Amino acid sequence: MTTRALRRVLVPFAVVVLAVALGVFVLGRSHVQAGSPAMENPGIQLTASAASRYGSITEGRTLFEASCSACHGAGAQGSALGPSLLARGAATIDLWLSTGWMPLAEPTAQPVNKPPRFDRQQILDIVAFVTSLAPGGVSIPSAAALNLKTADVAQGFDLFSLNCAPCHTITGAGDALADGYHAPPLHGVTARQVYEAVRTGPSNMPPFGPRQITPAQLRGIIKYVTQEIEHPASPGGISLGGVGPVAEGFVGLFVGTGACLLAAFWVGDRTEREDDEHGGGQEEDPKDGLEGAHV
Ligand code: HEC
Ligand code: HEC
Repeated sequence: MTTRALRRVLVPFAVVVLAVALGVFVLGRSHVQAGSPAMENPGIQLTASAASRYGSITEGRTLFEASCSACHGAGAQGSALGPSLLARGAATIDLWLSTGWMPLAEPTAQPVNKPPRFDRQQILDIVAFVTSLAPGGVSIPSAAALNLKTADVAQGFDLFSLNCAPCHTITGAGDALADGYHAPPLHGVTARQVYEAVRTGPSNMPPFGPRQITPAQLRGIIKYVTQEIEHPASPGGISLGGVGPVAEGFVGLFVGTGACLLAAFWVGDRTEREDDEHGGGQEEDPKDGLEGAHV
């Protein structure tokens, strides 16, 4: 291949690489700007009435008997295969069902995240049934408890790094814990799940009561988790998955080298053309022909 032919291949290639890099950069920025809170509408209005405010107790009983009672007992009192759910509270049931942790296919060391088996109304029906058996525990948060408009995200970040990052890591990527447990990644969790996890302490995560983390502080943490961890504001334009300086270095290297190569070819191209003009009307560069002969 002559250098000219080579250039004909390389220059469009470099242009495409640069265009893609530019596109990724622009998309990354618009994504950051469009980043909306992952907060779901909790759709629950708390009233001071009976537990049936959540849904239908009869529907919930039917679902519970079909999917849960084999391990947790017909009255949710527990069995050799699963713990008692009495007085565990609506938030615990809601969290374990909305994360897909329950129902377990078989008793394992730690439940894993999977798509929820039940839709929102079915979950609320099961909550209604189980909480009707015994009072107690943490309620499902009201819309006000999840209102993040005035939440202090800077304080939320401080509290997160102090209380949560030791297990979940500061980027929320999750980490292995002792005894084969792991703190799951926090990407994709909803505001309600953060609230329920913090207040109820699932599995070997400790519960944090309102005296350790006040409702206002919790709103800050929720805002940090659902907005900053879900949609990291990357001042450089694109987060590259938030995996850190190594990946960023590689992209810098390839895009930077690409730009340098492009500049070098452009300069080389011009120099050669000038040479051609001085060489007195030759159509082909003789050097190209020589090099071509070796290939
Ligand atoms: C195959 C047995 C099995 C089935 C079926 C099952 N569970 Fe469980 N469940 C368990 C075990 C075992 C644990 C304890 C897991 C742990 O602590 O890591 C548990 C834990 C829970 C917890 C957390 C309890 C606590 O105190 O932290 C909730 C809530 C729960 N299950 C609800 C349900 C519901 C609701 C269903 C039905 C939709 C269900 N489970 C189906 C075995 C089961
Ligand atoms: C001692 C370690 C530990 C600490 C500290 C901790 N967590 Fe967790 N967290 C866990 C573990 C383990 C689980 C998974 C529980 C399970 O699978 O049943 C979890 C689960 C969660 C979940 C549910 C994730 C999902 O997949 O849906 C959220 C949200 C969460 N934690 C948020 C927090 C926040 C916010 C803090 C700080 C206030 C915190 N955690 C502190 C260990 C921890």
